[in-house]
Amino acid sequence: METTLVKEKEVCEYLNISRTTFWRLKKDGLPTLKVGNSYRYNIDEIKNWVVSEGQQNYQTKQNPELYENLENSDNEDKIINDYRININYLLEHNKTCLSKIFTIAELEKLKSNLKTINDEELTNQQIVRKFSDEFIKLQQEKYQKENRQKDFDENLNNFINQDNNGIRIVWGNCLDTLKKMETESVQLMVTSPPYYNARDYSQWENIDLYLEDMRMIIRESYRVLDNHRVWVWNVGDIFDNDRKTVKSTWGKRRLPLGAYFIKLFEEEGFEFVDDVIWDKGEVESKRHMNGGMNYPFYQYPLNCYEHILIFHKHRLDTKKIPCPVCGSLKVNGNSQSEIGVQSWECKNEKCFVRSVNNRGKRFSLRTNMMQEWHDNDNRNFIEKKVINKWRRDIVAFPPVIKINHNGTNVLGHSAPFPYDIPEMAIKYFTFHGEKVLDPFAGSFTTPIVARNLKRIGIGIELNKTMFHDAIINHIKASKNMFNDDTNLYNEFTINPV
Ligand SMILES: C[S@@+](CC[C@H](N)C(=O)[O-])C[C@H]1O[C@@H](n2cnc3c(N)ncnc32)[C@H](O)[C@@H]1O
Ligand SMILES: [Zn+2]
Repeated sequence: METTLVKEKEVCEYLNISRTTFWRLKKDGLPTLKVGNSYRYNIDEIKNWVVSEGQQNYQTKQNPELYENLENSDNEDKIINDYRININYLLEHNKTCLSKIFTIAELEKLKSNLKTINDEELTNQQIVRKFSDEFIKLQQEKYQKENRQKDFDENLNNFINQDNNGIRIVWGNCLDTLKKMETESVQLMVTSPPYYNARDYSQWENIDLYLEDMRMIIRESYRVLDNHRVWVWNVGDIFDNDRKTVKSTWGKRRLPLGAYFIKLFEEEGFEFVDDVIWDKGEVESKRHMNGGMNYPFYQYPLNCYEHILIFHKHRLDTKKIPCPVCGSLKVNGNSQSEIGVQSWECKNEKCFVRSVNNRGKRFSLRTNMMQEWHDNDNRNFIEKKVINKWRRDIVAFPPVIKINHNGTNVLGHSAPFPYDIPEMAIKYFTFHGEKVLDPFAGSFTTPIVARNLKRIGIGIELNKTMFHDAIINHIKASKNMFNDDTNLYNEFTINPV
């Protein structure tokens, strides 16, 4: 039989013991093998020795019943509910740690928020969840206050945080608006920015100036987007003049905006996750046709796809968070599970869940976030239809047809994007009640879809004169998608910084 020999470090990990305990066990006769000048260990042999020699002490000391339960049961819920805990227990257990993290006033706030919870009716898991939510909320408020910018605008933030589900229309320049917004206060951003000089309402002197403007907006959006959250950026590779050398039509070329934006986002701290190609169907120009003559070298750029770029924000945050299983703050930092994501291991010996190797629960803010749907009664369920549609990173759906048979622009906006993009982004990357922002809102498709999906939709649009009526009409026309039509929208105007 083949045996695997491991090193001291792996034995410690396997048994979840410290080096000191390891040395004690070694003195007590833990089986070792000398290989050359060093020692190796056979895990199976060690396991047998630990049991037969009654050396379980180091484990059973931690939580005897729990250990037995784990051996006999694969039902985590049962174990979790066999040990009753409550909010007061968690406050007491975490006392020392909490007083290191929070001021007295903040601690009082935490306690009073937690007091409103009737924990008698709740399972341990729900109690831990509530405790953890309040703890993280308070940590976040603290972080937000510490990172407020000098342009922070209380009125704007009150407007955004008002207590109703109406679409928030913000009239203004999105860079100015973002500067006034609270740090890490939005859970998703989705947009289709101006495509350089593709429309007459947006004109830049040259491509570099355009990209520098976009960089400033992306930089500010990094601050405003909540941590471990997503930016969905829809852009096309246009055919235009970069205006860096000549301004005549001879200077026209393919401008790979998608590629430029990936680099910009990376430089501003985002992680590039995917480039979903939106297959728009028919090509919208006749550049490639060469008057119907099919001979070599008449290959010109077409335009029947766009990018849907997906980016993550992972700001490394090494502040402790409670174990999602037992609520303890007795946790040790592990390595980063991916760049910018701090992971933790629970060191509370009374914790209800241990791995088969007897290690404490390992978790991160991101893994907690991804499991938030657990007790949400299917409110965040994504339908099979949507999953099937987006299961590949080339996805075909038609663009919005905005010109009717008389040639009239029926939507009053020259570049609306289809519902499909915000629908995917919102269903995939947010939970019920969270905030979704489109800084180039145009016809307000993103906030409309967000409201429809019971999220808070926020849109910023610069061009009030041109689009006000069209936007309001679009929102009103979409109201039959909603269950109720109270508070369809609210408006706020930004003064330039
Ligand atoms: C490509 S369109 C957005 C299309 C949008 N996704 C839709 O479905 O209608 C870009 C929009 O951004 C607006 N815009 C351009 N620069 C802006 C800025 N600095 N701040 C806010 N809005 C801006 C334009 O007026 C235009 O309505
Ligand atoms: Zn734990």
